[in-house]
Parts: sequence; structure tokens; C-alpha cells
Amino acid sequence: MKINVSINGLGRIGKSVFLQLINHPSIVVRTINIPDFKIKNLENYLKHDSCHHYDKNFKITIIDDNNFLLNDNHIHLFSTRNAIEINYKDYNVDYLIDCTGVYLTQKKCAEHNVKYIIMSAPPKDDTPIFINGVNEYKYNGENIVSNASCTSNSIIPVLKLLDDTYKIKNASFLTIHSSTNSQQVVDCITSSSRTQRSIFNNLIIHSTGASNSIISVMPQLKGKIGGSSVRVPTNNVSLIDLNVQFDNELDIKLNDIMKLFESSPYIKINDKNLVSSDFMSTTCPSIIDKNGSMVIGKNVFKLSIWYDNEWSYSSQLIKLLENMINKNSVCEKPYFIENYNFTGKNVFLRLDLNCPTDCGTITDDFRITSSLKTINRILKDKPNKLLIVSHFGRPKGKDLKYSTSILLEPLMKNLGENIEFLEDGISQESLNSFNSSPNRIFLLENIRFHAEEEKYKSFKDDPNNLTINMINKFCNIYCNDAFGCAHREHLSIVGIKCVEKCYGYLMDSEIVQLNKILKNNTNKKILAIMGGAKMDDKLPLLESLSKYVNDIYIAGGNINSLLKNNMKNFIDSISKNKSKIHLMKDGLASTSLENKCLYKTVDVLNNSLNNDEYFYDCSVLSIIDINNLIESNDIIIWNGTLGVSENELYKSSSAIIVDLLKKSNKEIIILGGDTNSFVNQYENNFYKSTGGGSSLEYLSYGSLVGVDFFS
Ligand code: 3PG
Ligand code: MG
Repeated sequence: MKINVSINGLGRIGKSVFLQLINHPSIVVRTINIPDFKIKNLENYLKHDSCHHYDKNFKITIIDDNNFLLNDNHIHLFSTRNAIEINYKDYNVDYLIDCTGVYLTQKKCAEHNVKYIIMSAPPKDDTPIFINGVNEYKYNGENIVSNASCTSNSIIPVLKLLDDTYKIKNASFLTIHSSTNSQQVVDCITSSSRTQRSIFNNLIIHSTGASNSIISVMPQLKGKIGGSSVRVPTNNVSLIDLNVQFDNELDIKLNDIMKLFESSPYIKINDKNLVSSDFMSTTCPSIIDKNGSMVIGKNVFKLSIWYDNEWSYSSQLIKLLENMINKNSVCEKPYFIENYNFTGKNVFLRLDLNCPTDCGTITDDFRITSSLKTINRILKDKPNKLLIVSHFGRPKGKDLKYSTSILLEPLMKNLGENIEFLEDGISQESLNSFNSSPNRIFLLENIRFHAEEEKYKSFKDDPNNLTINMINKFCNIYCNDAFGCAHREHLSIVGIKCVEKCYGYLMDSEIVQLNKILKNNTNKKILAIMGGAKMDDKLPLLESLSKYVNDIYIAGGNINSLLKNNMKNFIDSISKNKSKIHLMKDGLASTSLENKCLYKTVDVLNNSLNNDEYFYDCSVLSIIDINNLIESNDIIIWNGTLGVSENELYKSSSAIIVDLLKKSNKEIIILGGDTNSFVNQYENNFYKSTGGGSSLEYLSYGSLVGVDFFS
């Protein structure tokens, strides 16, 4: 899901930001405000520029006076000087990039009815300043922030690195700065200021907000630095002349400084004989000119720093925005693993490692590999002990056929570390080993060997229950990443009472994927292909999906359920919701899997199949319909194969669908273990949910007990 943003003001910075966001993978511009602007001028304005080189391969389609498409993306255009008239909420916008240079205090920004604002100039109050590569990591959910000025973004990364390494004694700078829209073309009379003189004929001394911004970001330089600006008759790219003296016993060489810059990912060095226009449309904010830098005296240097004051500044602003979005999405999820530290703690990690097996060997380790990110994140923090807990199968009491010891080898192989198995499950013996062993990773025997796990509801109020009391002694932090089991109201899902609790990456990404369907706030169209053996247990799911998705295609064994049980009323009732319901039209039918099959067409709602016949696969007319639906939708969710796919004879239509989905380049979400196993016979990059029952339950009811545990 892309994050919607708005831009206020489409001048030099607004335009540069907008152009750089056109192909952004996770951010999309939803509204732009440009006072006194006619939409008919938009294409000409965006496709031509006197400075910048950029990809002009985008399409503008004007819809009406206030709306246009940029490629497929719908953008609303406001044209007002009154911020209150813009309702960002209507466009699902939480982030505003203000490029007007007018909204430079918290008070003025409050006129915008939006959650987060980035000012594209130094603030006129104490609004915090964040500079990418310097202090962006300190951003902590502030609503209104400033990206300071272009000069600040160029000089501060350099000053920070120098001060951290050598300690600056004092510094002065001059920025030889291209003209901006605040310069006059010919002399004016409005004031006696130098900025009223023509930029064509003059070098004009000008103030710079950078001095204040430097002190705001690096207060340690207070009283040690100052600078000014000269506006010159070029239209873009500026040059800082920085003179700096170090407070250091060492004899620092210019080469040492260059090596230091080379090691920084935020600073570049130019050693060619280039001039300002050669730096047009560069994104690095601090490009040191090696030949233009020199030693002045012992530990005193002159450094020349190029920067594209429009393009690199806009790029810095976008990086700040990305950082804010990342940080805020984590903050909005207080129980997300990213917010936790496991150092020195005893961690209880509930995973769903219930992998399919055949004759005692694991046939698909998808649930193991999907859990590694969370395990590795915990181990990275160096916990005291990590206890991995999972169920395996559906044992009735203790039955070693279902022992989780089968997981030891694949886990150790993936983690490259020894794991101790606690074969007694939750017991005093296990607790003693856990506390005294030199190992740090432990795997508990199948948690379902304890009756309390599945029957937690009936045991939970018993204060003397040994298992429940004992389980809480193992750890002081609980982490749940068992998405596949998050629909079960079991002890290890909803009954662990640690001081701290969190959920892992898998839980998070599964919910994010499924919310693309339930909380779709994009214009993306969704198709649900529903196959599988029988319809009966899917009624709540179909009912729910019919409210969210655009098309539902029902095929597979479901069709037999519809035919035999006369579910016309059900289909009629869900047809009244959002989705258009499509039913299988033809397939291979027979009286049993063993008998010869025949191709038949069918009108499902007016039952046209003999009573003793069943469909075992669908056929060409149905596949053509599904293909057309795939073409006309953006996201396709698929649950249940279309035929009896474990039988060679009846797997063809499902195999063709895999192929069509692969070629479609659409976003594909596969639900259910059987459908996962089926598509995994073919190479694909579909999103596969590790949840079976849990993902279907989430889509049916919009909540899961194991997720609600964290709300
Ligand atoms: C699954 O395989 O669907 C999960 O591991 C949950 O197992 P369960 O259906 O036995 O609770
Ligand atoms: Mg299952």
C-alpha cells in the first residue's frame, strides 16, 4: 500500500519534489495546491524545465479543472491561498510537504488540517530541524518538522563529520548561490534592500538561514561559526566556500579529510575539473571539490562544496519524508517487535512451525523460513535465553508421533547454532535445564501435549493450575509470531503473562497483506478466485469478501456444493453486496474419480447436472472468464485449487491459472496451505500466506484473538 502525500506549492522545490516522486515505490502524491493556476498549463510546466534533466516518460491526462491522471495515478488539484479549504482527510493524506515558504511556524502550519508537515525552508520558530545523514534518526514522531535550507543540507553533513572526527575550533563560510525566485530581474523600488537590484548585472550579498540551522542541529558549534551568501546570475547549483580550523593536537592532512569524506555514504568527492552546470540534477547534497580545496595553515583548511540547491535539496526532503513514514508506522504499532530490545532477557517466542510431513519428514519448510526474520532479530540483541514454542499437528495428549523434535535439525541448520530440546515440555525439570544450561536457544516439546494449551478457556481461571503457573516462569518477554495459529484462543497465544509482550515480522506482514483487501484505500481492483473442496465452511468468508472485492469467481468443488445444496438464495444475497459473483461455466464431470469423465457445460443456479455427477475440474470457458477477470483487476487473491489437483487428470485448470497469474504481473496473494503447496510446484513470486484457517478467519471476521491480544 503506498502512502499518500500532498504538496503545497509547485514552485522550484515543489516541482522538483513532485518529479522525483513520480516513480517512487511506496509514496504517491494525491493532491497538489497551486494558487492561481490553470490545469491546462500543467503538462507544459511539468514536461519542460530550464534546469533539470529527468525522465519525461510520464503521461498527463486532464480529467477536469481540478483533477488529472499522472500515468494511472489520480491527483486532485487545489487552487487556494486558504489552507483551511483543503481537506486532506478526504484524500487519505497524512503527510504534507509545504513548498510555499509561507508556513514556517507551528502556529501558521496549524491552519493545515493534516497530521504531519515538512517545511521546505528554515523555520521562523523552534520547529525541530532534521537533516538526512545527520540527525534524521532522532526523529521521534514530531508532527511538524523542517528540512531547513539547501545550504544547511549541504554544509551540515560535512561539519558533523569533521566535528565528530577532529573537533572544530571555528569556521566561516560563504555560499556562492544561484538566484532564486526572490531575486529581481530588473531593479525595483519596493525597498532599499540589495535584493531589489537586478540579478542579471550583479553579485548580491544576501543573508542565509543556514547559520541558525547549523546551531539548531549542532548546538556545540554555537559561537564558533558564521556565514553569508552571495546571490549570483546563474539559475541553479551553488558552491560553499568553507574555512575551518580544528581544535586538535594532531597534524591533520588534507588527504586525511578527503579519506574521511570518501568513507561517508552522504558525501561525494569530485576530482575532475567541472563547473557548476555539471552538477545540475545531482542528488548528493555535499560534493567536495578536491581541486578547489586546500590547506591554509596547521589544521586550517578551505573546502569547496557543490550542491544542486533545488534537486539535491528535494531529494534530501524525500529521504526525510521516507524516514518519518517508517518511524511513524512503527510508532503506530506499539507492540511491534521493532520497538523492543531483547538484550539480556529471557524470551518466550511462540511460532507456528506446524509444517506438512510425509512419513516423518518435513515436506515443506515454508513456516520455518518465514519465522527466521523474527528469530534472528531477537538473537541479534543477544538475549539471555530464547525459548521457541510451537504446536505440531493435532495430537490427542502426549503422542511422540507429533513431537516437535522433528524441527530441531532444520532450525539448527538455518540458525547455525546449537538448540537444546526440552522434552518434558512445561515442567520443573525443563525450567531447571533452561536456567542452568550454557545453551542460549531452546525448543519446547509440542505445546499441545498439555491439555491446558487448547482448552485454555476452561483452565484459565484456576489459580492452582501447574502448567499455567509454570509456563509464566520461563520468560520475562513474550513474542508471538505464530500467525497460522492466531485464530486459536490457546494458552500460548492469549495466556502468557510476561511483563513485556510483542509480535513479530510475520504477524505484521500477514496482516498488512490481508488489510490490502479489508482496508483497501487505494483505487486497486480486487478479484477473489475461490476454489477448494466444499462450500459449506466458506460461507462467512464469501459473505465478507463480497463486501470488499470487485469480483469473485467461484469454481472447484464449491460448484458441487452449490449444485447439490441449492444455494441460489445465498448467491443471490451476496450478489447484492459490492462484488460481482461469477460462477464456473464448464468442466469435467463424472460420477466418481475412478470413472470416465465427460466435458459438460453448466448453469449452476438452474442446476443442469445429473444428480449422481460431480465436477472434478473446470474447463476452457471458465478459464477464459477467469483470465478476463485477472486482466481487469489489480490484486488477485486465490484460495482453493479449481479441481481435484492432487489427481493428474484434474489439475490442468489450476496449472493454467498459475501460468496466467505469473504472466499477468498483478499482485497475487495465495491463501491456504493446499493452494500454497500447489502453486509451489511452479516457480513463482506470489505472496503466500503462512496462515490457513487464520487468514481465512481474518478475512471472514476482520479480527483474530492472537492479534487482539496486542490491542
Ligand atoms: C494450521 O496448520 O492451519 C495451523 O498451524 C493451525 O493448526 P490447527 O488448525 O490445528 O489449529
Ligand atoms: Mg489447517
